Amino acid sequence: MRPENLKSPFKLGERKVLIEDRVWYVPLQGAAPSDFLFPGWGCETFFGNTNPVHIEYCSGNGTWIAEKACENPHINWVAVEKKFERVKKIWSKIKNRELPNLIVLSGEALNATRCFFPNASIAAVYVNFPDPWPKCRHAKHRLIQPEFVAEVARILAENGSLTLVTDAPDYSTQMIEVLRQCPAFDSCYPDPYYTQEMDNYGSSYFEELWRQKGKVIRYHQFRKQVS
Ligand SMILES: C[S@@+](CC[C@H](N)C(=O)[O-])C[C@H]1O[C@@H](n2cnc3c(N)ncnc32)[C@H](O)[C@@H]1O
Repeated sequence: MRPENLKSPFKLGERKVLIEDRVWYVPLQGAAPSDFLFPGWGCETFFGNTNPVHIEYCSGNGTWIAEKACENPHINWVAVEKKFERVKKIWSKIKNRELPNLIVLSGEALNATRCFFPNASIAAVYVNFPDPWPKCRHAKHRLIQPEFVAEVARILAENGSLTLVTDAPDYSTQMIEVLRQCPAFDSCYPDPYYTQEMDNYGSSYFEELWRQKGKVIRYHQFRKQVS
């Protein structure tokens, strides 16, 4: 299957909630429709089992999550990506590598989480190389902000983990500040709250790109406290 084999089931501006052929389409903004009822991660259209669910936000072309899904068949994986051209690439990996434990959500991270993901249902969350928005005036567009982190705390089960990876030192500082201000989370790493290597973490398109350019990668990991 080629990425272009996935055709949008909607006309422009008519996007609805639909789960079809391993893709979960949700509106990019706005509330969930009043008749939407979350069917459960175990339903047949998602995974058909009750294995733990891990989410990767900002999956890009899906290199990292497809490899993880292949290596870890007893974990269910959800890729979240807002650009449909990239959703198509993830979908083609799901089809070509025959990965029954991976679905892709076509939507925006914060809105999808707020409107569609139930409480305490996720074992681990990853965000690999979220857009850094390096200019000061654009930093407001960064994903890792208090509102998003509070939503991640809501959907994670107790002891669930949140892993954030970036090559941007300034964004790393913001990630640490936001997470340390959220009482739900403890850092897994002592001061300075990140590590530069994480064994067997896997690699993504951007990880390889930045390593080739000699950039230092920072891995942050936080655990949701047991209440
Ligand atoms: C820099 S790329 C990183 C892709 C991939 N994680 C990697 O490491 O190769 C960031 C990706 O996040 C997606 N993205 C940015 N903001 C998003 C949001 N709010 N919700 C969902 N996806 C988002 C972009 O479309 C892009 O594909």
